[in-house]
Amino acid sequence: MYKAKVVGAGSYSPETIVTNRDLEKVVDTSDAWITRRTGIKERRIATGGLLTSDLATRAAQQALGQAGMDAQDLDLVVVGTVTPDRQFPSCACLLQEKLGARKAASMDVSAGCSGFIYALSVANNAIRCGEAQHALVVGAEVLSGVTNWADRGTCVLLGDGAGAVVLSRTDEDTGIKAIHLRSDGSFGHLLYSVDQNGTPRQALEIVPGAGEPKPFYLVMDGKPLFKKAVECLEEITRWTLDKAGVKVEELALMVPHQANIRIINALAQRLGLSEDKVYTTIERYGNTSSASIPTALAEAVSMGRLAPRDKLLMVTFGAGLTWGASLVEWSI
Ligand code: COA
Repeated sequence: MYKAKVVGAGSYSPETIVTNRDLEKVVDTSDAWITRRTGIKERRIATGGLLTSDLATRAAQQALGQAGMDAQDLDLVVVGTVTPDRQFPSCACLLQEKLGARKAASMDVSAGCSGFIYALSVANNAIRCGEAQHALVVGAEVLSGVTNWADRGTCVLLGDGAGAVVLSRTDEDTGIKAIHLRSDGSFGHLLYSVDQNGTPRQALEIVPGAGEPKPFYLVMDGKPLFKKAVECLEEITRWTLDKAGVKVEELALMVPHQANIRIINALAQRLGLSEDKVYTTIERYGNTSSASIPTALAEAVSMGRLAPRDKLLMVTFGAGLTWGASLVEWSI
């Protein structure tokens, strides 16, 4: 069976910065509370009509550039997102068009904040079984479009952005060593979307003028989610390391989903992983859902934090609940 290795990484974060102080003017909150409880100082917001597919395009172009590859070489485009530009066509098809990836098959993966790792798994399997030689994997979100700006419990947490990696087939003994995914729908009530009436999406009434489509926003029960997140992240990390035959001490870097610095620190502590081996961006970007891991990864790569043969762990959790991890032997 073939293997897949990462040959390029890229990211794009919109330029508009919203600080905690800015949010003090919007909801009853404070910079001190947000910093202490989450680690977030500021986040980026996609203004000026930028859509998820636009952010994805910029991240993908950077990843393709690092890979030295043309979009026309891609056989597969997979986008993890909960905020596609439209319900359909998929964000991946819109991205394919913007990139000019003419011969690729394209699809979105909806797995909450785990979207990128789930998308990575889809692409990894397509390469392993010979269906694709080169695949683009993207996590991209415009969460500001589904944020309830009156809810201080969620609006202070979220941000917009995109990150991408290019995977290529390899015969070498390197690249993606293990991916492990899990989900548990019985915890779906901890993080979900509702329309303005608080209801899920329903069939529209066949009455002229009635039942206009309503925008939706996300709702979260933060405390139990926090507890569940730490448990799931530790469990999936240990399984994935076992599957790859790698010990915690051998890790060069962990790039976790950036939801809350206290969750990240609790995970690192449980694993016995020192702070210098954990890459965080939450202070500057907040929680960008599917975009958080590939954005942090691309940044870590550009900062020279990974060398060939280094062992990288990416680990995530999100709405669903979904969670997952991947162990990669770095190859750039
Ligand atoms: N500013 C000021 N106070 C706030 C606030 C805000 N933005 N949000 C909540 N509070 C208040 C609450 O109303 C509550 O007040 P009370 O004690 O008077 O009732 C108090 O702060 C504590 O709220 P609580 O929800 O218990 O805080 P917390 O320590 O659990 O932190 C989260 C809240 C959301 C930061 C935390 O639960 C969390 O990060 N959960 C996981 C979220 C997550 O990972 N989501 C993404 C999944 S991909």
